[in-house]
Amino acid sequence: MIFDRIKSLDAILATAESKSLHRSLGAFQLTMLGIGAIIGTGIFVLTAAAAQKAGPGMMFSFVIAGFVCAVAALCYSELASMVPVSGSAYTYTYAVMGELLAWMVGWALILEYAVAASAVCVGWSGYVMGLIQHTTGLGLPEFLSSGPAWGFSGFIPTVDFSHGVVNLPAILVAGAVTWLLVLGTSESASVNAVLVGIKIVALTAFIVLSMPLLKGENFSPLLPTGILGHDGLGVIGAAASIFFAYVGFDAVSTAAEETKNPQRNVPIGLIGSLGICTIFYLLVAAGVVGTVGAQPVRDAAGMVLGPDGIGFANRCAELAREGTAPIVCSKEALAETLRRINFPLIGNLVGLAASIALPSVILMMIYGQTRIFFVMARDGLLPESLSDVHPKYRTPWKMTIFTGIVVAIAAAFFPVGQLADISNSGTLFAFFMVALAVMILRRTDPKRHRPFRTPLVWIIAPIAALGCLGLYLNLPFVAQMVLPVWGAIGLLIYFFYSRSHSHLGRGILEVPELGKDVPQQPVPPID
Ligand code: ALA
Repeated sequence: MIFDRIKSLDAILATAESKSLHRSLGAFQLTMLGIGAIIGTGIFVLTAAAAQKAGPGMMFSFVIAGFVCAVAALCYSELASMVPVSGSAYTYTYAVMGELLAWMVGWALILEYAVAASAVCVGWSGYVMGLIQHTTGLGLPEFLSSGPAWGFSGFIPTVDFSHGVVNLPAILVAGAVTWLLVLGTSESASVNAVLVGIKIVALTAFIVLSMPLLKGENFSPLLPTGILGHDGLGVIGAAASIFFAYVGFDAVSTAAEETKNPQRNVPIGLIGSLGICTIFYLLVAAGVVGTVGAQPVRDAAGMVLGPDGIGFANRCAELAREGTAPIVCSKEALAETLRRINFPLIGNLVGLAASIALPSVILMMIYGQTRIFFVMARDGLLPESLSDVHPKYRTPWKMTIFTGIVVAIAAAFFPVGQLADISNSGTLFAFFMVALAVMILRRTDPKRHRPFRTPLVWIIAPIAALGCLGLYLNLPFVAQMVLPVWGAIGLLIYFFYSRSHSHLGRGILEVPELGKDVPQQPVPPID
């Protein structure tokens, strides 16, 4: 049997109870935590890619993606409050669906966290380069500040270096954040509050300045690529990409164990942060569309081009030479919109805000990744030496540096939109599994105490699962294919390494906080 290794929920909870964190967070702090983790490259950078995919219709895409996140978040919270331990979706799946699927979820979470960190590094690079260029007139040549463009010829990957070779600023920020994490930096609530303030002020300034300048004609045609376009285009395709703008809300769920009255405060924190971000995103999207227009760039034959392909990069370069590059070509869409509507100083300040605030999103993502690696190594599924703690800094330094290197390499050589789409494919898989896990656990373990219960679970959880599946199926083909290929590599590693090294498989269950191994009780498989 390959699905028979299920970790006992009681054993997981014994680990958690021995930690028993102080319950101090209220609804307001949770909402701030959520906003801090959510607002980042998605709105500051990917708005341009969303506009290329859906034109003005991207406003609907923001709402659709926000809705799918909200229902997924309600499912996530039930498990987070029941199983309040590190490892998020990986740990929940281990307790509910067994080791193999947990491994697959943990493996997919690498796509979520590490690749998302890379995407935010590339987004940061675009803003910092734009800011330096507009304030000093200096800048790195394109081949050192952008990665190459990737595509496919049939099933053969192609790479084009004409618009970039390596993204040095993205490597730099990945390295700096990794170094901070090795030294043991984690973001304090007060730093988070300041950064949330900076982001909110920047987005508010954008909205206040752009709203009076909206022009009705810029909203027409509203849906230039339709609802369901080909290969990731259209309103739903843009929603699948812009889903990235909401990723990070799981920070709220995973803080459930530190929350006062989680039944009340966790949903307020989740829905509050998602709701506030959705309203901001919608107004910002309307500001971009209504002021500078957001019609997609087309090729000579009139076909809309995918925002990450070589054809799109070539066409944008052509338009830039003519001085008519539209906003969809910009790497710093919000700052650039403000410059174009005659607020160059505020545009630069918004660029500065993004440059200051985005590294904290990178920090949270790399931190989240190392935490998942740590739990997987502690379960024996990854080499345990990876979780070695630094003698002086008390941080999992090997794992952090390893993650940092992977993040830097991906950030150096891939465009932000492709990275975000790949990250989304892993995240959507993990959220899909969480929605299933909630329903399974309601059936198999209905009596267990649930500090937070998903409301209307038999409606919300299926909608979450279907929403995730629907968005996944509307990602571009390459991002969709990464998940099964990545999954196949994961399966090979599982069957050649992890399965035989698994602590659960070897009959030991580590409860590190108690400082000893306790024998694992046999657990009946779920039917
Ligand atoms: N939601 C985060 C961002 O947009 C990941 O950067």
